[in-house]
Amino acid sequence: MKVTVVGAGNVGATCADVLAYREIVKEVVLIDIKEGFAEGKALDIWQKAPINVYDTKTTGATNDYSKTANSDVVVITSGLPRKPGMTRDDLISTNAGIVQSVTENVVKYSPNAILIVVSNPLDVMTYCAHITSKLPRQKVIGMAGILDTARYRAFLADEIGCSPKEIQAMLLGGHGDTMVPLPRYTTVGGIPVTELVAKDKLDAIIERTKVGGGELVKLMGTSAWYAPGAAAAQMVEAIVKDQRRIVPVCIKLDGEYGIKNCYLGVPAILGKNGIEKVIELKLNAEEMELMKTSEKHVKEVMDVLDAQMAKA
Ligand code: NAI
Ligand code: 2OP
Repeated sequence: MKVTVVGAGNVGATCADVLAYREIVKEVVLIDIKEGFAEGKALDIWQKAPINVYDTKTTGATNDYSKTANSDVVVITSGLPRKPGMTRDDLISTNAGIVQSVTENVVKYSPNAILIVVSNPLDVMTYCAHITSKLPRQKVIGMAGILDTARYRAFLADEIGCSPKEIQAMLLGGHGDTMVPLPRYTTVGGIPVTELVAKDKLDAIIERTKVGGGELVKLMGTSAWYAPGAAAAQMVEAIVKDQRRIVPVCIKLDGEYGIKNCYLGVPAILGKNGIEKVIELKLNAEEMELMKTSEKHVKEVMDVLDAQMAKA
């Protein structure tokens, strides 16, 4: 199996590193627009192979998409990250141009690849890659929900004083402050989280999760990469090993949850064909209202992209 990671920056290089040291695939190609950058990162990862004992071959390329030909999965991380004071939506004008041109190059050389989009604003960049690639919707998948639930699970593990391995959680909606964590679908070693964490503490954890990306931007001056890179690699693994894992992913909704033509996070089965099935949870009125708020927000940003593309 061959995987290309576009963008050899913080998230892309971390994703390539996880794919390599965990030997998730045989071959990883890193590609970036910055001269020599992807080659350097790929060489560094390859030189770690004897130390960490793996043999996934990692190579790099500067803007030469012929090197990415016949990839099974392509992870798109190219684009600007947030700086303090910026929202993910502030990135749209620059990142849409980048994601569009990258997607055109990717599908030219790997027409059968499954695309995993990471660039922000995530839901709308997934839309951008989908309409540019013209691939079926189940093959253009946004990464956010695994990261957002991981943050939520890590905060819960700290609060409860248990291993994060014990915490299972689901989350819906856009990758932003309107995301919808679902305490009703959160368990700790099989126990509903509401049995273990008081409502005020749980509400505070949910609020912290919603702004979890911003918390890290404030601390580091740029956005996170270890958890995002690992989350993208987990999606690659589910696809290339046909694991049929149930994870939250961003996809174009086609009537699920009563929503059409909007790209939002929902639980899905991830396997060799990409999204094998979208899982529709029965939401209560409060959860549905939060989902609708998220839909409204993402649609507004989709409209910005439409206007931008119409002008171009
Ligand atoms: P970074 O700045 O470290 O890396 C981005 C890389 O993209 C740079 O090396 C740059 O040279 C490259 N690039 C720019 N234009 C390109 C093009 N046309 N072709 C190929 N490469 C190009 O940024 P970082 O931290 O890796 O973040 C990447 C993106 O992922 C950002 O948009 C960020 O907001 C997003 N992100 C999304 C997350 C999510 O949950 N979906 C989580 C974390 C980051
Ligand atoms: C994150 O959530 C900024 O989307 C990025 O870390």
